[in-house]
Amino acid sequence: MIEFLLHNEKITLTDIDPNTTVLKYLREQRRKMGTKEGCASGDCGACTVVLAQLAPSAAHSSENATLEYKSVNACITFISALHHKQLICVDDLKQTSLHSCQQAMVDKDGSQCGFCTPGFVMSLFALQKNNTSYDRHKTQQALAGNLCRCTGYQAIDNAAQQSFSQKVPDHFDRQQQQTITQLKAMNASRKSQSISATRLLNDGNPIATCHLPQSVDELCALLIEYPKSQLIAGGTDLSIGITQHGSSYQSLIDLKQIAALSQYTISENHIEIGAMVTLAQCQQLLMPYFADFSLLLERFASLQVRNQGTLAGNIANASPIGDSPPALIALDARLLLRKGESSREVKLDQFFTDYKKTRLSESEFIEKIIIPLPAQRSVSAHSAQAFFKVHKVSKRQDDDISAICAAYALDIDSDNKISHIRLAYGGMAAIAKRALATERALLGKAFNEQTFSEAKLMLTDDFQPMSDHRASSEYRLLLAQNLLQKLYIEISADLQQTKQLDSEQANKAHTRIFDYV
Ligand code: FAD
Ligand code: FES
Ligand code: FES
Repeated sequence: MIEFLLHNEKITLTDIDPNTTVLKYLREQRRKMGTKEGCASGDCGACTVVLAQLAPSAAHSSENATLEYKSVNACITFISALHHKQLICVDDLKQTSLHSCQQAMVDKDGSQCGFCTPGFVMSLFALQKNNTSYDRHKTQQALAGNLCRCTGYQAIDNAAQQSFSQKVPDHFDRQQQQTITQLKAMNASRKSQSISATRLLNDGNPIATCHLPQSVDELCALLIEYPKSQLIAGGTDLSIGITQHGSSYQSLIDLKQIAALSQYTISENHIEIGAMVTLAQCQQLLMPYFADFSLLLERFASLQVRNQGTLAGNIANASPIGDSPPALIALDARLLLRKGESSREVKLDQFFTDYKKTRLSESEFIEKIIIPLPAQRSVSAHSAQAFFKVHKVSKRQDDDISAICAAYALDIDSDNKISHIRLAYGGMAAIAKRALATERALLGKAFNEQTFSEAKLMLTDDFQPMSDHRASSEYRLLLAQNLLQKLYIEISADLQQTKQLDSEQANKAHTRIFDYV
């Protein structure tokens, strides 16, 4: 059984095919036709809806509970994702008059065709709910997944500004306490249940079943009992099988109710990221440690996809053009895999075995991703400067799959030697992998232009990329070589800046000492 709020109506579903998407449910079962189907693959944003849920800290406490609002694409969201959440769609916005986000689109001539406008309005609605004032960058991020701009960017941006300047408490604000109480009641009943799984039945016949385990142990038991099950993390890859290829999964296990998998920890040496931490959360948590990784995630799909998709799902999907594997391989990340009672660690550069194939065995799953922090390395490479850079090249800046994604981790010691190097590439082979020959050509060498000019030629030993509609083999190879040169230029500039800052600080310190004397 799953239960959720459809606006403020409590819904309980038991007999529903778990392969149903939220878009199908809204349009075909609830006849709520405002949410449109454009691409049915998460690309256009026409089907954007908003999911509100209790902020994690508030789920069990009685005071100061707040709601988090997340825009998602209904066309690639499994119905099980609604469990214990509030689903808000465009049909729920207008009461006696238009919602301030809808009115802003009208006033600023931002409204477009009947397909695109509802999606834009819902993205604006989530933006307005999560922020107190207009911010251009955040607005661009919120709207990058709503693709058609026949009206033009400026009119929509003006509407975003007005949605903040004329923001007034809406009926969601007025009903917020009631919504929180209802969601808490659902959470409480979940706590008191000792069930191991929730089943969704189709017409009484268990032709398709989805379990929603509450703990890692329950998940382990389910995977042993149903080893052929498909795991749903964010579902942003898995759902494409249903909407684009007509697949239907017989046995599904949705991981969203397992609180332990949504946690992350940061220690002196590592960042450990649970399998259900979303890409949007990773974007924030990685920023202070690996800014380029965070900026890569900013260009990963759209906010709607990042709000649901996970790092673990991106890895398990094992796509050669997945964006996170090159970054994680360069950082020497490891996976904690779990099967029943046993756990093992596998380095990510050993995890992919062939196109879309991994070392995961039957009933095994990714529990955590472990990323070492550079401090761990600097102990051996005394006074080395650690750099981490990423280059993603795609035809469009936002919401596009990479032709190449290259990631580089390197240390430069006080003698200007490259004391540590890991280069990893996506889009260059059947799996994301390291460029070992190129690494050998760089390790221990002086950090200068000649070293990089020579090393880049070794990329032809490391890769024989394929040609496809994103890029030809020759283009990929040349691009990878040029990107290596770009890396040299970027790091030289960083080093120059550090030197400048150091000398400015030395000057300041000198002045201070001088003043004091
Ligand atoms: P899911 O779809 O839930 O799962 C993917 C696969 O992994 C499934 O087979 C599932 O069973 C398995 N799985 C999930 N979690 C686990 C686990 N813990 N242990 C073992 N197996 C598991 N990808 C990019 O790399 N870059 C992009 O720019 C990008 N853009 C996209 C744009 C759109 C419009 C869409 C629809 C997808 C895009 N993707 C992109 C692909 C996708 O969003 C990512 O791969 C995402 O990280 C998948 O995560 P998920 O949680 O949604 O995985
Ligand atoms: Fe295009 Fe859902 S219909 S993103
Ligand atoms: Fe909808 Fe362009 S297709 S406004």
